[in-house]
Amino acid sequence: MRQAAITGWGKCAPDNILSNDDLATLFDTNDEWITSRTGMKERRISHVPISELSHIAAARALACAGVNADDVDMIILGSCSFDSQVPNSSSRIQQLLQASNAACMDLNTACTSGMYALSVASAMIKAGTINNAVIIGAEVIHPFMDWTDRNVAILFGDGAAAFYLEAEDTEENVGIQAEALGCIADSRDILAVNGVGLKYANQGWPLGTTLWDFEGREIFKQAITGMQSGCEKALGKMGISTSDVDIVIPHQANLRIIEALAQRLKVPNEKLFVNIHRYGNMSAATAPMAIVEAVEEKHVTSGDLILVPAFGAGLTWSAQLIRWGQRCEPIATTDIALPECKESALDIVTRVAETHLKNPA
Ligand SMILES: CC(C)(COP(=O)(O)OP(=O)(O)OC[C@H]1O[C@@H](n2cnc3c(N)ncnc32)[C@H](O)[C@@H]1OP(=O)(O)O)[C@@H](O)C(=O)NCCC(=O)NCCS
Repeated sequence: MRQAAITGWGKCAPDNILSNDDLATLFDTNDEWITSRTGMKERRISHVPISELSHIAAARALACAGVNADDVDMIILGSCSFDSQVPNSSSRIQQLLQASNAACMDLNTACTSGMYALSVASAMIKAGTINNAVIIGAEVIHPFMDWTDRNVAILFGDGAAAFYLEAEDTEENVGIQAEALGCIADSRDILAVNGVGLKYANQGWPLGTTLWDFEGREIFKQAITGMQSGCEKALGKMGISTSDVDIVIPHQANLRIIEALAQRLKVPNEKLFVNIHRYGNMSAATAPMAIVEAVEEKHVTSGDLILVPAFGAGLTWSAQLIRWGQRCEPIATTDIALPECKESALDIVTRVAETHLKNPA
């Protein structure tokens, strides 16, 4: 049976760290509040655009799978912070990777984009449209963050993670085994970034300034119910329960959301992977990065069944059951890395905050 196996994985977390104490220099907040309300301690700030961050993660995933860039059939970039809309950003990743035989697609479902990219690539491989794909979940959020708004600015960070998927004709079940995808569009206004998108062009909106509509408590509630019902649907398709799952790797938006979801799904702590303290919420990069780190840290072993619930603006949601293959070690590594950054994370975001203060929306 034709399956879409994940045979390469890689990540790119910028070195620049923005701590809770750094945030306390921008507005009235503190480490104790952020840690106890969200589980976050620090997040990364990128000094390069999303295509460059994605390129590093993708090159690492290709090395891990032991394949050459010119053998790649498809690149899908899942994100909501594209460098440019026309041309698309995945075409720039093709250029940087020198993957000249690859089709290129940008995909936006906000925080779930990385997992939707995995879903699309997997379905195209199973259908025989392509034989392999690189999918990337990546985000460079800091340029359109409102660094004067403590309600949202504490929550997000930048990062990228990638998977290489390839067709395998095997009786062994590998890759996505079941999934459920959806969107609660009646709640699309509870998380909205005003100032980004063509509807603001020629309307006198100050360039580089955003205003976030963000009903944190409402998103919190809907995230839990949306992910819970998604997980139940995906588990139902396989006729199994969470006790048959080896590890749950959820989207990391708030530790309290993760814990509430785990409680409802009856998932014990030892089956739950959490890395929110290191990165905050990297939107589309979050779930892919958590899977990559769970593999690297050996929380995922050969043949494990992984449950990945996620949600994002829209409100989009997803739940996927992924069977990992036999190999948990990379075939090879690459020494490709980001260029050095001379500015601190705090310097970078202070510059963005000043733009907001100079040009209020
Ligand atoms: C945003 C979130 C952390 C807020 O936590 P909360 O416990 O709901 O906190 P509230 O919004 O009720 O605020 C409680 C108080 O803390 C204050 N507060 C808000 N942000 C603060 C900050 N960064 N530092 C200190 N105090 C803060 C509020 O002003 C409020 O004060 P008040 O009671 O005097 O009005 C939480 O709702 C959340 O995680 N929501 C979902 C996350 C999400 O949407 N992620 C993106 C989607 S992928």
